[in-house]
Amino acid sequence: MKPELKTYLRNLKQYGQKNDIPNVTEAVGQFLNMMIQIKKPKKILEIGCANGYSTLWMAEAASCVDGKIYTIDHSAPTFAEAQKNVEEAGFSEVIEFHFGDARAVIPQLPDTLKFDLLFIDGQKASYLDFWNLVKTRLNPGAVIIFDDMLAFQHKTKSLTDAIANLDDFDQLLIPIDGDDGILIMRKGI
Ligand SMILES: C[S@@+](CC[C@H](N)C(=O)[O-])C[C@H]1O[C@@H](n2cnc3c(N)ncnc32)[C@H](O)[C@@H]1O
Repeated sequence: MKPELKTYLRNLKQYGQKNDIPNVTEAVGQFLNMMIQIKKPKKILEIGCANGYSTLWMAEAASCVDGKIYTIDHSAPTFAEAQKNVEEAGFSEVIEFHFGDARAVIPQLPDTLKFDLLFIDGQKASYLDFWNLVKTRLNPGAVIIFDDMLAFQHKTKSLTDAIANLDDFDQLLIPIDGDDGILIMRKGI
């Protein structure tokens, strides 16, 4: 990653901390970036971009592997900031922004649009709703990453219960950054 982008991301993270924007941690950002470099997904879906911090971590890697990110958020002020930040950092061409509740936006995406990698970081109590909407839009081998799966276990329990015994998905809960964790799922080929 270019030093200018590293500096941009560091400043954006500090801005988020000062302004109560719940950006992913730097480690989660690095993880997403590396996962995209390894998996080389062409179609990426993000639910919950806030002001674009996680989006930019993914965009840098997506731009190297010819990937495209579709990102959704329903909070107007941070959505506008995300668009501005992505443009400033030079990644507008990699990202398609969709404003609105993901539960309304996803069904309106073209039926043929299926994803290779998904990052889900919207409202925790809606994780099961998000899963039910995206599970039919996964290409074989798709990777799904849910953030905050340890810190908010009480809110994500309905998802955890629903996916507990799925035969065609591998899954792994990885503690990251102290008391937080990401859940990674992978659809069979
Ligand atoms: C934890 S923040 C996302 C942080 C972001 N991933 C980052 O690292 O900068 C959660 C975001 O999800 C959005 N959100 C929550 N529920 C949503 C929904 N149902 N549809 C769209 N956006 C949603 C909120 O507006 C908020 O910006």
